[in-house]
Amino acid sequence: MTEDEQLSLLHGHFALFLNPMPDGIIPSAGYFPGVPRLGVPALKESDASLGVSNAGRANDDAVALPSGASLASSWDVSLAEAGGRMIGGEARAKGFNILLAGGVNLVRDPRNGRNFEYVGEDTLLAGSLAGASIRGVQSNHIVSTTKHYVLNAQETGRHVLNAVIDPAALRESDLLAFELAIEGGHPGSIMCGYNKVNGAYDCENPLLQVPKTDWGWKGWVMSDWGAVHSTQAALAGLDQESGQEIDSQVFFDAPLKHDLAAGAIPAARMHDMVRRVLFGLFSTGVMDHPVQAGRLDTATDAPVAQRAAEEGIVLLKNQGGLLPLAKTAKRIAVIGGHADVGVLSGGGSSQVIPLGSLKFPAPAGSPKWIQGIVYHPSSPLQALRARSPGAEISFDPGSDPARAAALAKTADVAIVFATQWATEGQDTSLSLDSGQEALIQAVAAANPHTIVVLETGNPVLTPWADKVPAVVEAWYPGSRGGEALARVLTGEVDASGRLAVTFPGSADQLPRPQLPGLGVTPSEDQAMTSKTSFDVNYVEGADVGYRWFEKTGRTPAFPFGFGLSYTQFHFGGLKVEGGANLTVSFDATNTGTRPGVAVPQVYAAGPGQTRRLVGWSRLPLQPGETRHVIVTADPRLLAAFDTAAHNWRLAAGAYRVSVGASVADTAISGETHLAEARIKP
Ligand code: BGC
Repeated sequence: MTEDEQLSLLHGHFALFLNPMPDGIIPSAGYFPGVPRLGVPALKESDASLGVSNAGRANDDAVALPSGASLASSWDVSLAEAGGRMIGGEARAKGFNILLAGGVNLVRDPRNGRNFEYVGEDTLLAGSLAGASIRGVQSNHIVSTTKHYVLNAQETGRHVLNAVIDPAALRESDLLAFELAIEGGHPGSIMCGYNKVNGAYDCENPLLQVPKTDWGWKGWVMSDWGAVHSTQAALAGLDQESGQEIDSQVFFDAPLKHDLAAGAIPAARMHDMVRRVLFGLFSTGVMDHPVQAGRLDTATDAPVAQRAAEEGIVLLKNQGGLLPLAKTAKRIAVIGGHADVGVLSGGGSSQVIPLGSLKFPAPAGSPKWIQGIVYHPSSPLQALRARSPGAEISFDPGSDPARAAALAKTADVAIVFATQWATEGQDTSLSLDSGQEALIQAVAAANPHTIVVLETGNPVLTPWADKVPAVVEAWYPGSRGGEALARVLTGEVDASGRLAVTFPGSADQLPRPQLPGLGVTPSEDQAMTSKTSFDVNYVEGADVGYRWFEKTGRTPAFPFGFGLSYTQFHFGGLKVEGGANLTVSFDATNTGTRPGVAVPQVYAAGPGQTRRLVGWSRLPLQPGETRHVIVTADPRLLAAFDTAAHNWRLAAGAYRVSVGASVADTAISGETHLAEARIKP
């Protein structure tokens, strides 16, 4: 390869801004012309956290999976792989060979506007699901990316904030989630984020070396769009500049060439950068199985989205067994949330806009590039009507609480759909907005059989929960969300989701009661003026989410791992074995009268540690059926990272174990002794 050919693989376009658009180029996130002389294909990149996204294209035929928050709530690794396989297949059919999918940032703040793209607050759960999803995408012989490396844990000030964290704690939390995702999925690329960590921008941070040197990962690091600040980033470990039109200059073109000529950057480093890009293309099959655009098979793909939505829906409260809806409920009032037209989706680069979606203008102050508030065309109202012959199901938009309450009064059951839109580029409030809390209170006062269905990207505060007998969290449920919701509400399928994030009781319970950088607007952030830069202190370290609650003795509104089923389960026969490895076994039995899905979870902690998830099982069980579960804990989950010795240290001592239906369910517990061990990074 000539030097120019090599450089052409190291900086690429934001493929929305090409003017004129070259033939065969799909308006999307990224485009590199490739090296036709040597058979290196053009790199055609699309966002794809939740489906092939619609950057700049109008309604399109792609299928939208439910949000990452929903996938996380399924605790289903095989589902994550099936979802990835589906998205990868659609991307291939559209002509893309690189997907910017695989988000694995831990939920450190429930207000982060991108939590809906991520897979929860737990390292093991997030890493396992992201790895499976990457595996699924890449089974189509295209590249999947994992992102945003690292600590891009809030959107407010994402371009200017400096995340401050203890380096060992980072290894034990977010970095371990990336490590597990990379081990499970072998992604061709990693995307570095916008923010700084401990003083250095993500895309020029010494942390870029960790996957390469410690984890033996051979792919390439691409920048986020507009996240490159210098050619020196190449020395730190950045291999490729993406979306060059929005960096202040195209650093990896003439400036890099200049630094190479001047000897400021060794030629060997450039060869390594190119080799890494090519490794990603060869190892995933992009080179041997060139992408050829074809037709999408949405008839096969949409059921994958529906299954995912069904598995992610979490039943948070069900007093008196109000759900599933009784056949005797003849008059049902459906209220609010545009349930007559569809289900809400999250905004930003991951936005998928399937044909027939409905768009409302984004609120004032939202980032300018946001495409509006999109409802996917899958109406819960219509799906409920289709499943409830003989019932009269009326709809009220919920804009006037008194009118909605009057309708609820005439009904056997009232279902309030409460929505909260979240988007990349800004963070969200912890409370439901637009008077929806007042609407819930008014309807609940008029009808004691009121069910609240939440469509949110994040946990929300639920001060109204004690006024209603039933609460369901449906997240953003995707292209078939209405059907999935109707099937769960009517009991055609069990309510089988479990929370992958803690629902706090108040903002005061969080490590940062106030969101850092509050007041920095999306445009100030984008402009990256130095006066808006600020620190975010991750004082919780590796005690993210439920571990923070345990450490500080706080009781959340709904704990991590929690979710009800329509049947009951019993876990028993616990055996805990120690020595070199922690192995836990137990039996799970469906003691109820309906088939259902148990999700027993195993938590463990060593001396002085807060408990953390070390394994789980998702078990469909018939009434009376028992299954035996064996979990062996990955020792890294229980070890501390020793930064001086540069390895993991598993301390000798007594390890506490609990098995339950959530982190708060500690009824079955045991203890064992583990031997000291050192584990290579
Ligand atoms: C986002 C990335 C995305 C990229 C390209 C950025 O703003 O942070 O997640 O892949 O845009 O669309």
